[in-house]
Amino acid sequence: MSAPIPPWDPLSDPVLADQRAAYDRMRAACPVAASPRGVTLFRHADVVAAAADPTTYSSRVSAHRAVPNSLDPPEHTALRAVVDRFFTPERMAALEPRLRAIAGEVVSALPRGAAVDAVTRIGYPFAVRAQADWLGWQGIEDRLLAWMADNHAATRSADRARTAAVAAAFDDLVLAQVRRRRVAGRTAGDDPTSELLAVEVGGRTLPDADIVSILRNWTAGDLGSMAAALGVVVHFLATHPQVQADLRARPAGLRAAIDEMLRIDDPFLVNRRVTTVATRVAGFDLAPGTRVYLNWTSANRDEAVFGDPDAYRPEANAPHNLVYGHGIHACPGRPLATLELVVATEALLGATSGIEAADTPVRESYPLGGWRHVPVRLR
Ligand code: HEM
Repeated sequence: MSAPIPPWDPLSDPVLADQRAAYDRMRAACPVAASPRGVTLFRHADVVAAAADPTTYSSRVSAHRAVPNSLDPPEHTALRAVVDRFFTPERMAALEPRLRAIAGEVVSALPRGAAVDAVTRIGYPFAVRAQADWLGWQGIEDRLLAWMADNHAATRSADRARTAAVAAAFDDLVLAQVRRRRVAGRTAGDDPTSELLAVEVGGRTLPDADIVSILRNWTAGDLGSMAAALGVVVHFLATHPQVQADLRARPAGLRAAIDEMLRIDDPFLVNRRVTTVATRVAGFDLAPGTRVYLNWTSANRDEAVFGDPDAYRPEANAPHNLVYGHGIHACPGRPLATLELVVATEALLGATSGIEAADTPVRESYPLGGWRHVPVRLR
C-alpha cells in the first residue's frame, strides 16, 4: 500500500488565477495530486505512459457516449478510422484557399493603431467561419458565435442545469443540419456533414446519435480550443518581437513555431481516463475505477524533458510535444487545426508591419487554458 496521494483543489481561486503557473508549482512539489474529481498526472513520462495504455486507462469516463473520444478499442478503432478520412492531406489542400480567404477577411476588418482583442476579434470569428465553411454550415455563423458565448458563460457559472441546457441547444443546432440533409437527399450538396451521413461501418450507416456526437466533437469542443490557440499565438508574437521578426522573414517556419508556442502555453488543459485495474503511477497506487486527468499543459512544460519550459526551441522540442495528445486518441483534427492556425497567422503577419501588446492580457480559466483576452495593437 503506497502513501496517500497529496491533495489539491484544481478549481480553487489561486489555481484558476493562472492555471499554467499553478501546474508548474504542482509538478515541482508532487508529480501526482488528488481531488474529489480525480487524480491528476503532471509529469510528461506519466501522462505519456497513461495515454499509451488504453487497456489500463480507459476513455469510458462517463455514461455519456462521445464518438470517438469516449470509446475504447475495438469500437474506437472502427469509428476513429471514419473520422481520420476527413483530415487527409488532399482534403486539407482543397480547403486551404477558402481558409485563406476567410482569414484575409477577418484580418482586414481589424482596426490599425487601436487596441484589439486577439481572442474575440480574431480567434472566435476565424474559428467559427472556418469550421462552418469546412462542414458546409454557412449561414449559421452568428448562431455558433452566440452559442460559444453562452457555452463559456454556462461553464464559468458551474451551474449544471445551465451547462446541460447549452449542450442540448448545441445538439439541436447540429441535428437541424443532419435533418436538412436527410430531407434534401442527393441535392444536399457535397460537404463533410453530408458525407458523414453516408458513411458505413460494418455494412450500416451510422445512427443519428453517433453522427451528432462526431459533429459535436468537431465543433463544440474545438471552436473554443482553436480560438484559445490563436490567442496564445498572437500573445507570443506580441511579447517576443524577435520571433515575430524572424517569422515575418521566414513564414515557412510557422508550422513548427506555432506548435512550440502552444507547447509553452497549451490551452487544451486536460483529458480524462478511468483505470480498469489496480495500477501504480509515480510510486502511488491507483484503485480500479479511479478517474485520472492527463494534464497536457503541465506535461508540455516538464523540465525533465524540455529543460527551461519557456525556452523557445521549435525543432528540438517537436518530438516531445504533447499539444495534440499521444496514443490512439491523439487529435485527428491536428492537420485542420494546424492549417487554420498557420493560415490565420500568415494573414495577420502579411497584413501588418508589427503586432504589439496593448494592455494586460487576461488568463482563461477551466476547462480551457491560454488567454481569455489578448489586447494587441496592429501596425
Ligand atoms: C488547437 C486546436 C486543438 C488542440 C490543442 C487539440 C487537442 C487534442 C488532444 C490533446 C486530444 C487527445 C484527447 C485524449 O487523449 O483524450 C484531441 C482529440 C481529439 N480532437 Fe483535437 N485538438 C484541437 C483541434 C481539433 C479540431 C479542429 C478537431 C476537429 C475538427 C479536433 C477533433 C478531435 C477529436 C475528434 C478527438 C478525439 C480523438 C479520439 O478519441 O480518437 N481537434 N485533440
